[in-house]
Amino acid sequence: MTSEILSLAKYLASSRPEFSLSEMKQYLSRKYEEEQLYAILKTHFFDLDLFCSPDYKCTKLKKSPLPADEVVVRELEAQFKNPGLPLRIEKLIETYIEKSCGKDWHKGETAALIRENIVKQKEEYWNGKGESRYPKIRIISYLLYHFPVYFCQYQYLLLELFKAGLLMNKMSIIDVGAGPGTITLGTLDFFRKLQDIYSRNKMDVKMNIRIGSIEHEPQNIECYKELTSNFLADVIIDEPVHSFIENTPVPEDADLIIFSNVLAELKTPPHERAVIVERIASLSKNPTLLIIEPADLDNSKALRITQHALINKTFNVYSPCSFIWGKICSGVNCWSFQEPGNIKVPGFMEKIADTTESYRYLNTDMKFSCVILRKDGLIKHTYRARGKFMALSNLKKHIKKHINVAVSVMSGNLGDENTLVFKICDGTTSIPCYAVMPAYHMTENNRVLIDAVYGDIVEIYGTLVRENKEQSSINLLITRNTIVSLAG
Ligand SMILES: C[S@@+](CC[C@H](N)C(=O)[O-])C[C@H]1O[C@@H](n2cnc3c(N)ncnc32)[C@H](O)[C@@H]1O
Repeated sequence: MTSEILSLAKYLASSRPEFSLSEMKQYLSRKYEEEQLYAILKTHFFDLDLFCSPDYKCTKLKKSPLPADEVVVRELEAQFKNPGLPLRIEKLIETYIEKSCGKDWHKGETAALIRENIVKQKEEYWNGKGESRYPKIRIISYLLYHFPVYFCQYQYLLLELFKAGLLMNKMSIIDVGAGPGTITLGTLDFFRKLQDIYSRNKMDVKMNIRIGSIEHEPQNIECYKELTSNFLADVIIDEPVHSFIENTPVPEDADLIIFSNVLAELKTPPHERAVIVERIASLSKNPTLLIIEPADLDNSKALRITQHALINKTFNVYSPCSFIWGKICSGVNCWSFQEPGNIKVPGFMEKIADTTESYRYLNTDMKFSCVILRKDGLIKHTYRARGKFMALSNLKKHIKKHINVAVSVMSGNLGDENTLVFKICDGTTSIPCYAVMPAYHMTENNRVLIDAVYGDIVEIYGTLVRENKEQSSINLLITRNTIVSLAG
């Protein structure tokens, strides 16, 4: 019976731009209510390129970037300005914890066990060993401690993708190493917010989003399924693929593939991780790949090695790196991360942190390394440096001289309020380079450096080159006589 309905829907979808499910009834050999037809067809709408509204009107969808009108961007930015878990998600997580550990999970012996596991997990990261009275304790610890920040930083990046026109009205998304569903839930919440904004602004935007996931840990899959199915949304969520990412069945044509905090868990060396990533994206025609990793020295550096190996395959970096001199960097010795700020402490985190040494259970600062990759050559900044600038690879020959450079700002302030320090890069050297500005030298002519967003390109005129032998790095001194302007 389903096949009769499906063939009819296929026929109608190919022969007209719009039809209603009630129209279908007259052609079918059995009597169906529209509601039944909707339920039967729901999982096929994506493949049929159809959007069917709750009043059962079906429209053919043409894949195109989601409209990012100024008013929409402004409203979305306002919603994400003070990042934190949405109340619905907070409730979802807390209900899950209560179901697993009881209503008093944040008190007495249970809380002590959870706290112990949070500390252990921070040290061993998912390797929590030993039998527990609460078999789900590793997931509970993860939800309490890691989930909120990972959720918010992903949404921060999703907003970037949206503003860049990289989110489409019809999208197949793959959440690789999905864990308890951080990325999937972040996506569901983001699209719901976006849809609400479109509706409020009377914009008729139809979306058809499908999310698949890959995960090898059965308990995580169980948690994923429970959390994502309890967040009602007009998004198709596929049954998670229970598999190792190294040999998982390759997803069919995906539009967005996210590896959030998963590559760091692989035993495979960083450059070989590129093989795994490439294989997963191999059937996708024009995907956006988003890789997010922890900001610590080892994981951050490892990401750039993987990134470089991917560039040597079929990928190009959309952001954050700009190869300003048209030369691809080696990816070696690069420690660069983003710090977009703190999130609001969720209620459940406050509860588990309600003890001595509460700081051990509070995790609120977003800090991560990431890369967005494409296969089609699309890049965020098309700016290229010309003759009047010096490539950073030449700085060693110009110590103590004043020069001009064009560089990307690849960190927030790494110094303090008296001396501001920013990592800079132009893709030509693996020697770490920094722009160093004593606060009293800040002027209207150079404060662009401070206001620059991670990855922005700036032109710096009249900066003094200094060598930091101890750190094997080079500092460019920004004084009141240095001019900094935004480029690109
Ligand atoms: C740190 S968690 C990240 C979860 C989620 N992506 C997030 O950002 O919160 C890493 C997840 O990757 C899964 N994982 C690690 N290695 C894997 C592999 N080789 N194949 C599939 N999943 C893997 C782990 O089981 C875990 O759920």
